[in-house]
Amino acid sequence: MNRYREISMNNDPNSLLRAYHQRTKHHFERYAAGPGSLDWDAQPDPFRTWKGTRWYSLPRESPAREIPWSALADARPPEPFDTASLSAFLRLSVAITAWKEYGGNRWALRAHPSSGNLHPSETWVIAYWVEGLADGLYHYQCRDHTVEWRAETLTASDLPGLWLGFSSIPWREAWKYGERAFRYCQLDMGHVLAAVAHAAALFGWRARLVNLSPEAVAHCLGTDRGEDYAGVEAEEAEAIVALQTEETDTVPAPPLEWDEWSGLPSLLDPKPLYRWPVIETAAVASRGGLPPALAGEAGSAPASRPVVDNPADNPTDNPLATQVLLQRRSAQAFDGRSTLPAATFRRILASLLPSSAAPVWRLWNSAPRVHPALLVHRVEGLPAGLYLLPRSEAGLAELGAALRPEFEWLPADAELPLYRLLAARAERTARNLSCHQDIAAMSAFTLMFIAEFDAPIEANPAAYRHLHWEAGMLGHCATLEAEAAGWRGTGIGCFFDDADHELLGLADTRWQVIYHFAIGMPVDDPRLLTLPAYE
Ligand SMILES: Cc1cc2nc3c(=O)[nH]c(=O)nc-3n(C[C@H](O)[C@H](O)[C@H](O)COP(=O)(O)O)c2cc1C
Repeated sequence: MNRYREISMNNDPNSLLRAYHQRTKHHFERYAAGPGSLDWDAQPDPFRTWKGTRWYSLPRESPAREIPWSALADARPPEPFDTASLSAFLRLSVAITAWKEYGGNRWALRAHPSSGNLHPSETWVIAYWVEGLADGLYHYQCRDHTVEWRAETLTASDLPGLWLGFSSIPWREAWKYGERAFRYCQLDMGHVLAAVAHAAALFGWRARLVNLSPEAVAHCLGTDRGEDYAGVEAEEAEAIVALQTEETDTVPAPPLEWDEWSGLPSLLDPKPLYRWPVIETAAVASRGGLPPALAGEAGSAPASRPVVDNPADNPTDNPLATQVLLQRRSAQAFDGRSTLPAATFRRILASLLPSSAAPVWRLWNSAPRVHPALLVHRVEGLPAGLYLLPRSEAGLAELGAALRPEFEWLPADAELPLYRLLAARAERTARNLSCHQDIAAMSAFTLMFIAEFDAPIEANPAAYRHLHWEAGMLGHCATLEAEAAGWRGTGIGCFFDDADHELLGLADTRWQVIYHFAIGMPVDDPRLLTLPAYE
């Protein structure tokens, strides 16, 4: 039985998704539907394993590359595909980076953040001529840093190839967050894709999305195999990324048919207390192809970059890239005092522009559709207030027409497209809008990502996912750039949607805020014990 093809649609995907978005908004007086109570002991297993199949341990050495953060995007000779490079690459992108312990509880942190640390995304490895690994499809088991054999092919390829596939297990997220969880899965996926693109650059590889139909992605990863998933939580196929060692126009496609399958997935939650069927509706409605530029073009290196201070000028401000990727954490609290230096602020903003060197913008090189608004609290040389960083000329023009007419649109930087909309202290506003969370007020600044909404989703319902990916990618660039400079970021998935829109003057759904992100000076919790990932 093919579960994937069986789901029927009663309505058009566009209106289903708009309805999903509407009903999963948080309001001051009412949160989106979620579980009434939580039993943390009943949390679904954060690690899926595949039983009844062979598995291979990956090398456990810490990934070491002597490349400074400022040189991450520089061209370098590609490393060969072998188990050592694959292991290091996974460690820097999707693996566990540390265990934390407190009061008898232990939990793992990974190279990318995840809403509630619930990690809905699963990683797949497709290997051809990867030295030390038989050709085939593997599930990456990040708890033990192993790959579990899932499928093999009898068709030999003469070219080496390495792909990562991604799927989401929405239940992991829905268990805690209810109906809004599908949004979080997609924001997480944006973080994952950015983490992969950044890590790939260290190996001289370029990460590129493969343009396949959603059915082909599900088929390639085997997530459409209803009989294998019978009685356990479904996985929603998301994307396949090719790792390229050479600059070519075409993105190599992975094998789409496998000859032999093995293994069965573990059950994550034996006693689910709730059901949120609207999540599956949103997942099915948002299946579709990539946006046009990604579907067609090679994506070249950006032409011109804004001038920002180079951290290479100051070695203490320029740690090793591996260190930045491995030490990335979300701040749980900010100090509410420190002023972010102007140079760091400008580097963070520059990394969000499509012209920046941040490797993710070569993976995601379609026209920008998500634009950051900033609630600035403590940034050197910048009055507190509301700012906008349109990421394209079109974004500037269209948001100029859409936002509150009384905004001042004062250019606030000589190089970056930063505009001050309103000068005002905004801590209380930021806290209120972000579900009353202190991090939004105690940060140096808090971002609100505004997405062009109705038009892209009408043109292609898969844009519902892609807009969230883009926002997740933006958050990831900001957090890494902050981390490199000794500051830190935290994603904020909980915010009052329409209160944001009221502040910005957005009266309809042509634009929607889909993510918040705070950057500041972290305050660490000394009670938490940190343990190594695998060593
Ligand atoms: C999409 C998304 C939404 C998040 N929302 C919140 C939030 O509303 N409040 C918060 O304190 N942290 C939030 N976080 C941060 C996570 O709690 C954090 O990433 C997770 O606990 C893992 O910790 P780490 O990032 O240090 O690895 C969010 C993270 C992501 C990726």
